[in-house]
Amino acid sequence: MTRFDGLVAAVTGAGSGIGLATTEVLLRDGARVAALDLQPPAMRENLLPLKADVTDQASLDDAAAAAVEAFGGVDILICNAGIGAVGTVVDNEPEEWHRVYDVNVVGIARTVRAFLPSLQSSSRAAIVTTASIVSHVGLPQRAVYGASKGAVLALTLSMASDLVGDGIRVNCVTPGTVDTPWVGRLLDQADDPAAARRNLIARQPIGRLGRPDEIAEAIAYLASPQAGYVTGTNLAIDGGTSGFRVPTG
Ligand code: NAI
Repeated sequence: MTRFDGLVAAVTGAGSGIGLATTEVLLRDGARVAALDLQPPAMRENLLPLKADVTDQASLDDAAAAAVEAFGGVDILICNAGIGAVGTVVDNEPEEWHRVYDVNVVGIARTVRAFLPSLQSSSRAAIVTTASIVSHVGLPQRAVYGASKGAVLALTLSMASDLVGDGIRVNCVTPGTVDTPWVGRLLDQADDPAAARRNLIARQPIGRLGRPDEIAEAIAYLASPQAGYVTGTNLAIDGGTSGFRVPTG
C-alpha cells in the first residue's frame, strides 16, 4: 500500500522540469496521473497525456472531462504550469504583464474551475500550486514574474479559505532556484552563461541549485493524505535563501 493508492492526480506543466518530476513521484507512489501540458509526456501505464493550454478554458474543460472519463474522477490538482520574465518595471511592456499573468495567475484560476467538480466529489481532495521564492523575497530583474508569483501565493490562500468548507486543502510551494530547462534557457540568454550560473549558485546559502525532484517531493507531501491537517501553507524549498544569510568573516 503506497500513499497515493486509489488516488488520481492532474498536473499542469507536466511535460518538463518540476511538473514532470512531480508526475514521476506521484506515479511512483501509486497515483494515476493526468499529465497536462502544451507538450505532454508520452503515454504509459497510469499516465494519461493531455494537451492543454492554461490560457484556454475550453482546453482545460476538455482535459478535465478526459481525466474523469479515463480514471473516474480527480482527487489531487497540481497547478504548476508557469512562464518566466526578466526585467524591471521599465523594461517590460504592458503586453508582457498580461502574457505572464494570463499563464501564471489566471491559468491557475481556469484550471481550478475546470477540475473543481471532481475535487468536490473526493474525500481526499487537495490542490497544490507552484509559487516561488519571489512571492515573498524581492530579487533583481523579476518585476513581472515576482508580481505574478506574489499573486499565486495570495490566490492560494484565498482558495484555501473558499474551499475549506468543501474539504479541499490548498497549499503552495515556494521553490528557490531549481535546475530545470527553464533556468537553463534563462542562463543561455546571459552574455556569459557559466558566470551567470556561478552567480545564481552564489546566492544560495546551501551552495547549489535545487533539483526538480526535491520540489516534487514537497508538492507530493502537500498533496498526500499524510498532510490532512495542512491547508493555507506555503512551503519554502529554497536552500535557505528566504530564511537566513551565511556567516561571513
Ligand atoms: P519548465 O519550463 O521546465 O516547465 C514548465 C512547463 O509548463 C513546460 O512543460 C511548459 O510547456 C508548460 N507550460 C508553459 N505554458 C503553458 C501553458 N500556457 N499551458 C500549459 N502548459 C504550459 O519550468 P519549471 O522550472 O519546471 O517551472 C515550473 C513551475 O515552477 C513554474 O510555475 C515556475 O514559475 C515555477 N518555479 C520555477 C523555479 C525554477 O527555478 N525553475 C523556481 C520557482 C518557481
